Amino acid sequence: MNDLIADNITYIYKGKYQSVKALKEFSFRFIPGKFYAILGASGSGKTTLLSLLAGLDVPTEGIVSFDGLSTKDIDRDEYRMEHVSVIYQNYNLFAHLTVMENAAYPLYIHNVPKKEADAIAVSNLKKVGITEEQMKRFPKTLSGGEQQRIAIARALASGSEIILADEPTGNLDTKNTENVIKILHSLAKDDGRCVIVVTHDLDVAQEADVVLKMSDGKLVDQR
Ligand SMILES: Nc1ncnc2c1ncn2[C@@H]1O[C@H](COP(=O)(O)OP(=O)(O)OP(=O)(O)O)[C@@H](O)[C@H]1O
Ligand SMILES: [Mg+2]
Repeated sequence: MNDLIADNITYIYKGKYQSVKALKEFSFRFIPGKFYAILGASGSGKTTLLSLLAGLDVPTEGIVSFDGLSTKDIDRDEYRMEHVSVIYQNYNLFAHLTVMENAAYPLYIHNVPKKEADAIAVSNLKKVGITEEQMKRFPKTLSGGEQQRIAIARALASGSEIILADEPTGNLDTKNTENVIKILHSLAKDDGRCVIVVTHDLDVAQEADVVLKMSDGKLVDQR
């Protein structure tokens, strides 16, 4: 029932002098327990699609719905907080929180007691290969790949049904990429979450249950 559906969505970025049609009549039904990979050239609309699925904005035409409700009709802040976890292309960690606090943040906002939240965060950070010493630091003192893995640890803590990731392995070496793929896979298979990953990495796509190919704002292939 908790399907995430894009129904004939079009999205137009409206500028002062020109508009860009970034998505064109895109339709797809994403279901829980599956790991999806989205491939496509730069500018093909992948990040735009994720931002609509995440409820950051609503489509210009068509409908994005979760559990039968259009994102146009719900409190989108609440939707994002309760159901969606996003791993962004540029990490989006909180600069003023330590690495551990970043990874514990979804638990803090759900009123999990601090000690318990911190223990879960530490365990998730270890899973993605962050050391105890690094956990005490602030994100900007870490490398791009390390920050990316912290963002993944934060998503692990969230418990959200929908995990959206934009190039989550873009800054990782082979070993960390394999580990992250394993984690994303398990979030779908073992936890029954709906995992949607934008990637250029064919090794990541190889592991996905379904691969969607986008071109010029359209869904052009799936397997
Ligand atoms: N804020 C914006 N204002 C206007 N046009 C935008 C904006 N953001 C993206 N676009 C345009 O929308 C189209 C789709 O962009 P999008 O970011 O979704 O592509 P993408 O597939 O994620 O690319 P990449 O692989 O480079 O991240 C592009 O033509 C892009 O130039
Ligand atoms: Mg993008």
